[in-house]
Amino acid sequence: MTLREMVDSSRRIVFFGGAGVSTESGIPDFRSEDGLYRQKYDVSPETMLSSDYFYSHTEEFYRFYRDKMLPLDAQPNAAHKKLAEWEREGKLLAVVTQNIDGLHQKAGSKRVYELHGSVHRNTCLKCGKKFSAEYIARGTGVPRCGCGGVIKPDVVLYGEMLDDATVIGAIDAIRHADMLIVAGTSLTVYPAAGFVNDYRGDRLVLINRDATPLDGRCDLVIHGKVGEVLGGL
Ligand code: APR
Repeated sequence: MTLREMVDSSRRIVFFGGAGVSTESGIPDFRSEDGLYRQKYDVSPETMLSSDYFYSHTEEFYRFYRDKMLPLDAQPNAAHKKLAEWEREGKLLAVVTQNIDGLHQKAGSKRVYELHGSVHRNTCLKCGKKFSAEYIARGTGVPRCGCGGVIKPDVVLYGEMLDDATVIGAIDAIRHADMLIVAGTSLTVYPAAGFVNDYRGDRLVLINRDATPLDGRCDLVIHGKVGEVLGGL
């Protein structure tokens, strides 16, 4: 079956995406040639985006975070828009994303499981007050709450656990999917990458520019740009 035939005959599509879904919105991914983790830093981005580094080098964390992790002017691309359209048509159960940029919601998607959290949710570590991404972006240095507490982004840093309810919801959606589209991800970061194994159907589609460890187990593999591929449906 072609991608279009699979989509046309599916009613419970789940989309599992990664940073490659947002590159056509101008946000670099992590592990491609021009990815964030390929750029030269004194301290590796994986270290800077770790929980230990946040607490031990908060000022340096925020310098990197504001510089590289807050593309607030990025707009949804054709992939985000098509998924929101399918949800409105009752064809898509949920989006499961490893991204923290909020572009799926910006495109109109409602049921989005953000496995690694979101830059749009920020919490005071002392009193729990919530702050927007814009509040963090326009400040300098370590952002603090009126109570004096340090504000932390609600993103899953290396060394931190994923949110239980989000994981349960994502796995439940994948288990009930009649079609699973995996796109824009190198499938190298666990536990997120392992969730695709919970899919039980026979319409497992991969849309990724580069090869992934999942290629050999898919019913359809498309090595291309996910915005172009979904936008063309
Ligand atoms: N269309 C399709 N695939 C694309 C596109 C595109 N327009 N752009 C990039 N890709 C592919 C690349 O070929 C690559 O395989 O998307 C993949 C992106 O992989 P990564 O950069 O590793 O991103 P991701 O898989 O989301 O990383 C997972 O790692 O650092 C952590 O928390 C971070 O959520 C992130 C996790």
